[in-house]
Amino acid sequence: MTDTILILDFGSQTTQLIARRVRECRVYCEILPCHSPIQVIRQLNPRGIILSGGPASVYDRDAPLLDQAVLALDRPVLGICYGMQVLTHLLGGKVAAAQEREYGKAGLRIDDPSDLLAGLGTETIAWMSHGDKVLSLPSEWTAIAHTENAPYAAMRHVKRPLYAVQFHPEVIHTPMGRQILENFLLRVCGCSPTWTMRSFIEKSVEEIRETVGTERVLCALSGGVDSSVTARLVHEAIGDRLICVFVDNGLLRRGETESVVQTFREDLKLKVIAVDASDRFLHALKGVTDPEEKRKIIGAEFIGVFEEEAKKLGRFVFLAQGTLYPDVIESQQVRGPSATIKTHHNVGGLPSTMEFRLLEPLRDLFKDEVREVGGDLDIPETILRRHPFPGPGLAVRVLGEVTKARLDILRAADAIVEEEFKRTGLYQGLWQGFAVLLPVKSVGVMGDARTYENVVGLRAVVSEDGMTADWARIPHEVLGLISNRIINEVKGVNRVVYDISSKPPSTIEWE
Ligand code: XMP
Repeated sequence: MTDTILILDFGSQTTQLIARRVRECRVYCEILPCHSPIQVIRQLNPRGIILSGGPASVYDRDAPLLDQAVLALDRPVLGICYGMQVLTHLLGGKVAAAQEREYGKAGLRIDDPSDLLAGLGTETIAWMSHGDKVLSLPSEWTAIAHTENAPYAAMRHVKRPLYAVQFHPEVIHTPMGRQILENFLLRVCGCSPTWTMRSFIEKSVEEIRETVGTERVLCALSGGVDSSVTARLVHEAIGDRLICVFVDNGLLRRGETESVVQTFREDLKLKVIAVDASDRFLHALKGVTDPEEKRKIIGAEFIGVFEEEAKKLGRFVFLAQGTLYPDVIESQQVRGPSATIKTHHNVGGLPSTMEFRLLEPLRDLFKDEVREVGGDLDIPETILRRHPFPGPGLAVRVLGEVTKARLDILRAADAIVEEEFKRTGLYQGLWQGFAVLLPVKSVGVMGDARTYENVVGLRAVVSEDGMTADWARIPHEVLGLISNRIINEVKGVNRVVYDISSKPPSTIEWE
């Protein structure tokens, strides 16, 4: 049985980051909302509990607090920032608004280098971000570190394994943060660092076999990271009883269908049914210019095609989907008071009218863990490291009406962009880099002749998660080269512009 750490979420922006850090220490963890019923928590049987930060003040009327029953479980607890204030407040100490908000790096002096703060030396840097502070400790608690502004920057119970820190060990600005978390996990909680992707694969393969029995599984393969790794993992478990359907909607990048089919069918030996439905999608999109309408049409067509193919293939009990842990957290609103609203749902998701049991083998994993699983299962890096590609594909990059001719122009330009970003080594540093075809024409001159042709927009952004993004500072020489190549090589384009807007207020895609 794997050791599990429970993270109770009080709504911090960095709760997921805590989870990732814990997993990096090779310990499995799950996030639950701070108000989760004690039965649910007990069922998880955690080796230790981490209380996240959060935006509230403990003395607010509706402040999220902790059920005392959680402390009665007698498991080690680490409160982080707001989590520390919750512990202080509940156990009889005093929390109050600080004179001014403390934000940024602070020098942390270690007063007790045993357990939690072992191996940190006498002084280190800690990242602070709080408006309230602990004024007096609950009885039987003692300070184990301080900063110039905070006499209680870290504290512990003198007898029980209860700890709290005012700063954020999970962010990179706390350089020894990883050591602190590891101390908590391994020394205080006694967890074994056995959570590896190899162990995940073994366990998952067994579970899939058990769940699926002798049935067959259907999977919509898009060629993206999540569906690729899902398919490969399920194939590892049940072999040819997995059937993948790859729908070519005519809105894909150049060579995409061929390369996905080649990789999965020829190299990895999966059963892949490739359906060329491009005419059907293009027909449905005729005359449509509104982006949201395009999305709806493409989603509906996808479900139609997928259902038809599934019917031809006979009865399936299971549908495999590449749901990841961040999707699970968002859809269950596990996140506390700061829940974020997801703006996009993958086109190519669950056909709502079909009755399937869902198989979601990656639902406990973060994206970087999924990539590691994929690597262990021999999926090529070109697939694992590829930029995200929207479900509606190039339909939202051909601005205005989508036609075969305009798609072909964009595909040619986009191929040059990708090629140059890869050749210059910039590709890996970008969240996304692509071309869009604008719905305007501009005047140019080629040789002695006047031209009146299309404009291509170049978009390249850096981002952590796609929720916010900054335009990438691509070297001018590379921009120049891409522009020259597109104008020289792509018939019908006489101008290239570079998009220098960030998200927000712009979005990454143009539609
Ligand atoms: P925006 O344009 O909203 O995009 O800044 C954020 C991220 O989501 C991708 N995106 C989509 N993905 N279906 C998808 O599966 C969609 O309709 C869709 N629209 C945008 C976009 O490529 C970026 O990574």
